[in-house]
Amino acid sequence: MIRICFVCLGNICRSPMAEVMMKSFLKEKGEGANYYITSRGTSSEEEGNDIYPPAKKILDLHGIEYDKHFATKIVKEDYNQFDYFVCMEKSNIDSLFRIFQIKDYSKIILLLDRDISDPWYTRNFEITYQDISKGIKSLYEKLSMW
Ligand code: 4NP
Repeated sequence: MIRICFVCLGNICRSPMAEVMMKSFLKEKGEGANYYITSRGTSSEEEGNDIYPPAKKILDLHGIEYDKHFATKIVKEDYNQFDYFVCMEKSNIDSLFRIFQIKDYSKIILLLDRDISDPWYTRNFEITYQDISKGIKSLYEKLSMW
């Protein structure tokens, strides 16, 4: 069982999108049972909130199913619960370094080889969807090789 936690700032847009998109991707591959997938935010700003409505709209447009979500801030104790923390942008990695305060950061990675723009600010949820989709495919290929 590979345990993956997707990480963004607020845990209402990018990381919950990545969570449900990865679940859908793995289900299609018949690999759902081999993974535990969830998401967290590095800030407590949106704690308890559901996926942001415009993000849900984009997921609906692409036929991706999701359940009720409760935005959750990541805590130090999460470090041992996951094999990979897959971040949406470099600043999330800096935040995890600060929160975890440990020396081995090998399980903290970026979803793409660049930041995934925050639709909370850009308002372009389709570009975010496409970037996350690209990132998920390359993550799956990497995980298959590791
Ligand atoms: P996310 O987007 O990190 O992709 O969930 C954000 C959502 C909320 C805020 C920032 C980013 N906020 O500042 O409340």
